[in-house]
Amino acid sequence: MNLNTSKSILIALSLVTACLGVVTLAYAHGDVTPQAVDTHELPKLGAEWLEANPYKGNPTAIRIGASAYNQNCARCHGLEAVSGGIAPDLRHLPTDAATDEYFQGSVRRGKVRNGNVYMPPFEGIMSQEAVWALRSYIVSRHIED
Ligand code: HEC
Repeated sequence: MNLNTSKSILIALSLVTACLGVVTLAYAHGDVTPQAVDTHELPKLGAEWLEANPYKGNPTAIRIGASAYNQNCARCHGLEAVSGGIAPDLRHLPTDAATDEYFQGSVRRGKVRNGNVYMPPFEGIMSQEAVWALRSYIVSRHIED
């Protein structure tokens, strides 16, 4: 093995080590990157945002929504929608159509006031299908006050 080859091996090894470090860091900080939601099993909804949940009560939407919720919302709103107190407990949100519209607006725009991001906007990250799957899941977890 000549000098250049061993040099390349050393460089390759340090690159691998550096990458491992980044991966470890990412895991240590938990699931904070928004996760893409696979909604191919649900009817397509088009580009125009609907005001009311077209998947209300749809078991497939509830299942997809549950996984989307646990990957994207649970870190603030609590696992299975049981809030630990840092964000509202979404099980108490009313289940009517007016709240459907409020829900999709909240998820798309997030909660940003005076430059403070209480909740990040999910517009462009969550498809319309994913937002209504999330809503279907939240409604399935509803409890009366
Ligand atoms: C970084 C933390 C965080 C994440 C992640 C987050 N939220 Fe929130 N969310 C909040 C906070 C904090 C509020 C209350 C904001 C306020 O003061 O208005 C809130 C408010 C809401 C509201 C309005 C509740 C109400 O009672 O008015 C809805 C609906 C909501 N979030 C849904 C979601 C969904 C669905 C997701 C996942 C796609 C999500 N949030 C992800 C922190 C978060």
